[in-house]
Amino acid sequence: MLTNDQLSQWDRENFFHPSTHLAQHARGEAPGRVIKTAHRVHIVDRDGTELLDAFAGLYCVNVGYGRHEIADAIAEQARELAYYHAYVGHGSEAAITLAKMVLDRAPDHMSKVYFGLSGSDANETNIKLIWYYNNILGRPEKKKIISRWRGYHGSGLMTGSLTGLELFHKKFDLPLAQVVHTEAPYYFRRPDLDMSEEAFVDHCVAKLEELIEREGADTIAAFIGEPVLGTGGLVPPPAGYWAAIQKVLDKHDILLIADEVVTGFGRLGTMFGSEHYGMKPDLITIAKGLTSAYAPLSGSIVSDKMWKVLEQGTDENGPIGHGWTYSAHPIGAAAGVANLKLLDELALIQNAGTVGAYFKSAMQAALGDHPHVGDIRGEGMLCAVEFVKDRDSRTFFDPSDKIGYGLAGALLSNGVIGRAMPQGDILGFAPPFCLTQQDADVVVDATVKAVKAVLG
Ligand SMILES: Cc1ncc(COP(=O)(O)O)c(C=O)c1O
Repeated sequence: MLTNDQLSQWDRENFFHPSTHLAQHARGEAPGRVIKTAHRVHIVDRDGTELLDAFAGLYCVNVGYGRHEIADAIAEQARELAYYHAYVGHGSEAAITLAKMVLDRAPDHMSKVYFGLSGSDANETNIKLIWYYNNILGRPEKKKIISRWRGYHGSGLMTGSLTGLELFHKKFDLPLAQVVHTEAPYYFRRPDLDMSEEAFVDHCVAKLEELIEREGADTIAAFIGEPVLGTGGLVPPPAGYWAAIQKVLDKHDILLIADEVVTGFGRLGTMFGSEHYGMKPDLITIAKGLTSAYAPLSGSIVSDKMWKVLEQGTDENGPIGHGWTYSAHPIGAAAGVANLKLLDELALIQNAGTVGAYFKSAMQAALGDHPHVGDIRGEGMLCAVEFVKDRDSRTFFDPSDKIGYGLAGALLSNGVIGRAMPQGDILGFAPPFCLTQQDADVVVDATVKAVKAVLG
């Protein structure tokens, strides 16, 4: 077996890590962690340190680690048929079965699912389908996409543009010109502290209307949003937000993409966030929870309305010019089938709802009165604690103080993984759905200790 020193040397010399300070890592100043194994909500590194992973990897290991049912399905699929492509109508039993399982769970007005590999490529697919759709309908000018500041939709060229976080644009020449951003539905950060939640929804709607007016509705194809803002801060929308936004979109014939990469398959305690908030999307993006990350697989679920036009397009133009070698990969599909079965058999979505609600209220009871805690929010198995310098005036800490990162570091030394969300001093939690109340208590206690150590 390799020694840890050997591994970390090879790591520094050869491995280009995503979302990492490249120079510090290469110099050995910011060593990462080599993960060896994991079980349910715990991961274990090469040194034998066990940590409670209260972010489920990157909010994706929804059924928890070490599920033999999924591992066995992957192994069987690899032995029987590791690969065949899905072009020109080909498929595998696993991919066809999974498509049926996804559609059985999706809102009634959805028609088909296209399988990709990552959330980013699924959103790239969505934008291409929307452009194709408007070209087939003879509206070549209707192409711009509205996204929200603080939205996260991936880090490709188009999806990095849709993402509304500065880090993903800076020095990459993004966003591309076809993408415009509007207000985030982030009530805690409302422009005026006296604004009611209702008035804030009106404000978001007015901002959207202004943008549409400025750009021209005939140039705008779609609006993309996560039902609950994820990487931008784990922010559930204010009451009535989605109904009000949907009304504006319908009025201007603008399609809606619900990016459910995080919320899809149960994270909010319901199968989809669209159902949770009464959204009526034309496309739904799925990834992470589709396989609980046991194998890479994503999808674009297409509505009846769009599907009809896509069919018309191929009748007029021949086969659709879109596909990846690994679209609908049989191994990913087998993992997806086993994962969705497990979610049902273990009633894990219900657990996400009940233990998630317990977790948030325990966090509120423990930290709600702390002078540096500005907001504790969440929905289902998502919870965030936002820190401020001064509560009454809602003054934020200087970003250079890196309070959020300090807190995540302190939490880690207490044996729990939470995530310092990238914009603001926000500790985020998105545990596996199999979290128990006792696990939730462990996370809350560790958070209280971390807050005490960093902020007093
Ligand atoms: C809402 C949302 N959309 C898209 C993505 C991109 O997914 P991936 O990292 O698999 O490309 C993410 C990733 O975190 C996400 O949270």
